[in-house]
Amino acid sequence: MRTTLSALRKKLAAGKKISMLTCYDAGFARVMDEAGVDTLLVGDSLGMVVQGRDSTLPVRLQDIAYHVECIARGSRRPFLVADMPFGTYQEGPAQALRNAVVLMQAGAQMVKLEGGAELAPTIELLVRSGIPVCGHIGLLPSHVHALGGYRVQGKESAEADRIVADARAVQAAGAAMLVIEAVPDPVARQVCAAASLITIGIGASVACSGQVLVMHDMLGLTASPAKFVKNYMVGAGAEGDAVAQAFRRYAQEVESGAFPGPEHVYGAAPAAIGALYG
Ligand code: KIV
Ligand code: NA
Repeated sequence: MRTTLSALRKKLAAGKKISMLTCYDAGFARVMDEAGVDTLLVGDSLGMVVQGRDSTLPVRLQDIAYHVECIARGSRRPFLVADMPFGTYQEGPAQALRNAVVLMQAGAQMVKLEGGAELAPTIELLVRSGIPVCGHIGLLPSHVHALGGYRVQGKESAEADRIVADARAVQAAGAAMLVIEAVPDPVARQVCAAASLITIGIGASVACSGQVLVMHDMLGLTASPAKFVKNYMVGAGAEGDAVAQAFRRYAQEVESGAFPGPEHVYGAAPAAIGALYG
């Protein structure tokens, strides 16, 4: 059965933290499911890591919906969260509800919106309509042009106070979860200490209820990852570029004729030819 919000809260109550990874396709969804990842997020990071864009801004609602369908088909157990892309909720509650419905119908169990107190009426309507909401505060990648780059947020005390106030407003509006991105550890701790909702950190603090990473970052596939990224391919061979190493070995073996070997080709016996996956 698919993980529910109450199951995530139960896990937290038992003293265990929540793991979240971004995921965009059925193949990785299955592997993450079997590996015990609690929550999968179709982030608008897909604009950058899947679509090859410079920012998350061009991602469309239908892009997210398509990838939600893919990961829903590929997994059975993890809780599924979908990002609402830039421009699909800022007009107000009615626009947000209309677009959130598309993502929920694609298979999401919760939608995530970037922003703070200004989203309170929008979050209230979604929650009243039966749509669980995850907030997203601190560094808001969809605000990259207003911010002038991807930078740690809340280093000055006025900014830190606003982040804490935004977290409070998002929670008061009824959000059940909150991503905190790229804020100093003490600020994140302050948010988490005051929060009763589930806090998910990325470049935030171990004090959060859980953590999220972008899949491509933690698999060592990103050219210049942020400081908050841990490359989990380190220790899996090839000094953290195990995936790239596999591609290099494949290209070399095809070039030299070392692949396919006799064990990878079908013999002349009719029975062996029939056994495609043997
Ligand atoms: O789009 C995304 O991948 C995200 C996570 C980094 C939280 O929003
Ligand atoms: Na996002």
